[in-house]
Amino acid sequence: MSEKSYDVIVIGSGPGGYVCAIRCAQLGLKTACVEKRETLGGTCLNVGCIPSKALLQASEKYEEADGHLEAMGIKIKGLSLDLKGMMAHKDSVVEANTKGVEFLFKKNKIDWLKGAGVISKAGEVTVGKETYKTKHIIIATGSDVISLPGMEIDEKTIVSSTGALELSKVPKSMVVIGGGVIGLEMGCVWRRLGTEVTVVEFLDRILPGMDGDVSKDMQRILKKQGMKFKLGTKVTEAKAGKSGVKLSLEPASGGDTETLEADILLVAIGRKPYTEGLGLDKVGVALDERGRIKVDDHFKTSIDGIYAIGDVIAGPMLAHKAEDEGVVLAEMLAGQAGHIDYDCIPGVVYTWPEVSAVGKTEQQLKDEGVEYKVGKFPFTANGRARAMNMTDGFVKILSHAKTDRVLGVHMIGPNVGELISEAVTVMEFGGSAEDIARTCHAHPTLSEVVKEAALAADGRPIHI
Ligand code: FAD
Ligand code: NAI
Repeated sequence: MSEKSYDVIVIGSGPGGYVCAIRCAQLGLKTACVEKRETLGGTCLNVGCIPSKALLQASEKYEEADGHLEAMGIKIKGLSLDLKGMMAHKDSVVEANTKGVEFLFKKNKIDWLKGAGVISKAGEVTVGKETYKTKHIIIATGSDVISLPGMEIDEKTIVSSTGALELSKVPKSMVVIGGGVIGLEMGCVWRRLGTEVTVVEFLDRILPGMDGDVSKDMQRILKKQGMKFKLGTKVTEAKAGKSGVKLSLEPASGGDTETLEADILLVAIGRKPYTEGLGLDKVGVALDERGRIKVDDHFKTSIDGIYAIGDVIAGPMLAHKAEDEGVVLAEMLAGQAGHIDYDCIPGVVYTWPEVSAVGKTEQQLKDEGVEYKVGKFPFTANGRARAMNMTDGFVKILSHAKTDRVLGVHMIGPNVGELISEAVTVMEFGGSAEDIARTCHAHPTLSEVVKEAALAADGRPIHI
């Protein structure tokens, strides 16, 4: 037993865990964080949000330079790709971020207990040979890749997002299984660098969780950019050989088999909660039918003194959701009131154009029998988007038919990952489309499209 004891031990240093640890320390709780990776920051900083965005940003610049700027009178000769350099950029961004968390731990006097944490019982965590006593245990162990039965991810030919972030050369062809967020983001990175990308999606649409208009328009835009799609299709077999992968495909509802060959197969069919080796069975922490840790409204598991946040519990697997849960839990443990509104968690897909959303989709409102109004405005009618030569997409606002309260906002377009914040704030304050319509938006900015969509919800857009 170690001499050291804590108020809080957080297991896992992803955005849920490290943010929770910092907030606990800020509130005067003696805090440690257990992490088994060699660097802090979890999936997000090491092999998720941050490296993928570094490659998305760099590949987007490359594609822009590769002819896309000609329409604006900029011709570039002798352009070439230095993939090693691009990967080095990604690695340096990851390093700066993970080291940044290490610095924040030191600044806040949080002990990093290096190794895999095992919960021996409520109030005790073992890391290697040491066992530490603590008042509260917070599980923030995140999620892991899902694979298909009989398909071994070797991270060389058959890769998950982790392998797709590290390819040493640009493949000629890539098949992506799954037209969700990872499939489209990583598919875009490699298509921009020259790979022929085919997305195989089981359902009859890409981005199935998003508003129907967004899925449809985004597929059209990505197709125009050169991405290929096979919707309503399942992969029944994938065999990796020396020169790539051979795949057997079938219509999702059954039918004739077709074959496909590719240099690389990216499996991006979702992620599962990660609880391996924590010792939850022994301690009696209950899981739900999908392997997620069951928690109550205060993030308490079935065992007193043990809590869970982030990807390992129900809800969208998003870094900012995990972070907010971490803050709320820390504040509750310190005797304060925490608040999180699950109806106001934005989602962003960092393709180009970007996709963003908050709140209900049109289909959800229909299913719930809610009467609603739609205000939609395209980027083609926005001066700034024209000046940027980026006119794909729209903003769609769904507001209540009687109260006008904003219920959902869905966007495709340039920088809509930033523009969504306005909608989130308005929804958090229970605001209406009219509130947005009456708010002064600077001209010429992309944000005017949000205002125009709000005006359109009342049938009075100006610029269309
Ligand atoms: P994680 O970040 O998964 O961290 C869990 C940590 O716990 C890991 O470091 C793990 O090593 C550690 N751990 C597990 N078990 C133990 C143990 N027993 N002892 C010690 N340590 C342990 N989300 C966004 O919001 N925006 C994005 O742009 C985005 N992009 C993504 C891109 C990719 C390619 C991927 C894969 C994910 C992306 N996500 C994104 C999702 C995001 O990464 C997750 O939602 C987020 O990381 C979840 O945070 P977490 O703290 O719950 O867990
Ligand atoms: P996802 O859930 O977004 O998409 C998976 C897709 O695969 C779905 O469209 C699904 O219908 C399809 N699918 C499932 N089984 C299939 C099969 N057998 N054959 C063909 N298609 C199949 O999951 P994804 O893209 O793997 O991402 C995992 C998580 O990571 C997501 O929950 C997401 O929230 C998070 N993430 C977030 C990002 C962001 O916020 N920008 C970026 C990347 C990941």
